[in-house]
Amino acid sequence: MLSVESPVNGIPMSGKTVLITGATSGLGLATALLLAEQGAEVVMVGRDRTRGNFMRAEIAKCAAGSVPILFLADLSSQAEIHRLAEKLHGSFSRIDVLINNAAAMFANREVTPEGLEKTFAINHLAPFILTHLVLDLIRAAPAGRILTASSEFHSGTLDFSNLQGERRYNWLGAYKRSKLCNILFTHELARRLAGTTITANCFSPGPTLTRLGDNLRGLPAVLPWIVKRIPSLLAFPERAAITPVYVASSPDLDGVSGRFFLRCRTTRTKDITYDIDVARRLWTMSKAMYESRASALSQID
Ligand SMILES: NC(=O)c1ccc[n+]([C@@H]2O[C@H](COP(=O)([O-])OP(=O)(O)OC[C@H]3O[C@@H](n4cnc5c(N)ncnc54)[C@H](OP(=O)(O)O)[C@@H]3O)[C@@H](O)[C@H]2O)c1
Repeated sequence: MLSVESPVNGIPMSGKTVLITGATSGLGLATALLLAEQGAEVVMVGRDRTRGNFMRAEIAKCAAGSVPILFLADLSSQAEIHRLAEKLHGSFSRIDVLINNAAAMFANREVTPEGLEKTFAINHLAPFILTHLVLDLIRAAPAGRILTASSEFHSGTLDFSNLQGERRYNWLGAYKRSKLCNILFTHELARRLAGTTITANCFSPGPTLTRLGDNLRGLPAVLPWIVKRIPSLLAFPERAAITPVYVASSPDLDGVSGRFFLRCRTTRTKDITYDIDVARRLWTMSKAMYESRASALSQID
């Protein structure tokens, strides 16, 4: 049993469909579990069938509503994101909440099948694309919510000539840059969705004990290794998930959009995140990176 007592207990989510990426580990798993306990129909996205089925069964034990559904997709591949979106359209007429949670870090610069740097592709571009591709399903909900996991440890500058670490790469810089992109994306998305019933917010779970960084090797592995051995620095995912669950479900946030939440409170982020020109430029560049498949973009452009 993963759940803990929390201030979000008791907020009803029955009748609501929540799509959550990275739902097979850490924060995404704990968030999926809490929302299932609240009665939501949880739609998990994972990339590993065995792990996904195991976690799905764990969540099913606590679900107050329907049994969770699992979709498999490697979000580093645009083709797989498109296949995922097609399957979602075949299975649902509405998505009430989308939680873009999956993320990864890489010690060395690696590229996806489409030739994009992986941290950027998984952490920023995948949420950008998936959001566009399922936006019609979110529009079909009475008051759709889009959440994207970011971090208070995001970059304070954005060098567009090194967006994918093509000039110089270091794993922490790439991760922090992707978390900045999550906030810029959310702010721009909220602006574009203003006047609709859909809200877009981002959040940080705060420092949390998860598998994030466990794949790092060599020097980059040292920092996560040390931090994970100082228990007082990190919350357990069950506790950290309270923030995304709050942002996904609290009636207090009806109509609230374009905010960053940390510990269930709106928190100011670095100055650059409020720069509209930077956010627009990132949006345009992100769009161009999958333009050949971009017909869905017309929905919010
Ligand atoms: N942990 C922290 O201290 C912290 C702090 C601030 C923000 N965050 C943010 O919180 C979110 C969740 O991270 P976490 O800490 O819970 O890490 P985690 O335990 O490593 O979970 C990350 C999830 O993303 C999935 N994922 C990674 N690459 C993927 C890919 N190519 N395709 C599909 N799914 C993929 C993983 O799938 P598998 O289960 O198959 O591995 C896993 O379920 C991230 O956005 C992270 O940036 C975390």
